[in-house]
Amino acid sequence: MKKTLLSGIKPTGHIHIGNYLGTVKNWIELQDQYSCYFFIADLHALTIKLEPEKLKKQTFDLAVDLLSLGIDPKKSIFFKQSDVVGHTELTWIFNCLVPVSELERMTQFKDESAKQPDNVNAGLLTYPALQAADILLYLVENVPVGQDQIQHLELSRIIARKFNNRYQNFFPEVKPVLSNTPKVMSLNNPIKKMSKSLGPASYIAIRDDKDTVIKKIKKAVTDEQGVKNLLELYPYFGDKKKHDQMTQEYKAGKLMNAKLKEELTISILDFLEPIQKNIKDYEKNPDKIYKILENGAKEAQKIASKNMLEIKKIVGIK
Ligand code: TRP
Repeated sequence: MKKTLLSGIKPTGHIHIGNYLGTVKNWIELQDQYSCYFFIADLHALTIKLEPEKLKKQTFDLAVDLLSLGIDPKKSIFFKQSDVVGHTELTWIFNCLVPVSELERMTQFKDESAKQPDNVNAGLLTYPALQAADILLYLVENVPVGQDQIQHLELSRIIARKFNNRYQNFFPEVKPVLSNTPKVMSLNNPIKKMSKSLGPASYIAIRDDKDTVIKKIKKAVTDEQGVKNLLELYPYFGDKKKHDQMTQEYKAGKLMNAKLKEELTISILDFLEPIQKNIKDYEKNPDKIYKILENGAKEAQKIASKNMLEIKKIVGIK
């Protein structure tokens, strides 16, 4: 039997190449080795103030982006978190186990609270209990996450241990699946990670049209670090031979920034073309997206209901 794996992503806007190389590419590759659950974390997104219509659209668009990039509903269970009721049920059980002091230690809680000081809601604090529920509801053992989520994963392990000690041994030890994905840096601020919060000039979204991609790369900062970043980004999209050649030129101090930018632009546009075609095709047929998410939720719900019944019996509410 294949090993199981789960991961989620919040619907906070369109996927950019930093998200793709850092997260989604890895997911796509893992689909063959593992039996996978991938979901859109729309409940986690409620911790941020978002207009309901916007949340709805961002969720739909993210589903389209992920499918267009290669998340394959025939291989993986792909769904929306809020469609499977067990996530919130298990969160409550975990809320009653996890010490508030552990939640208050979380870096993401501190960062997010600082970002929205007028909206430090309880959901921001208990966010990791929901994340632990996401993972443990399906009894998966492997979770591919970036460095920034390691602390949440560690807290999931603590919660599982607390449950197992207080009641009975039920939840497995979860392990992070780390991959050697690159940290893609911002185009307009080469020492910072590519990020939506740094504005559109920071990133290339997978939906950016040709002119936008050309303009953004043209405007990319080319100080010493900036050039290094662009050169390091190139091989993920471009030709290996050309990369070797440009690296030689770079070392000899002869690489022209304009040439590097032109080659990078061509390679990224080539990469984006088939993906944007997929996006267009999916958008012609929104019902297909809803159907895929619905079917995914049904599959996930089967496992979730079975495990949730066990859990309810163990804690004495069934
Ligand atoms: N908190 C994660 C993030 O911000 C998203 C997420 C929610 C997640 N639930 C998860 C990731 C479960 C892995 C497993 O990126």
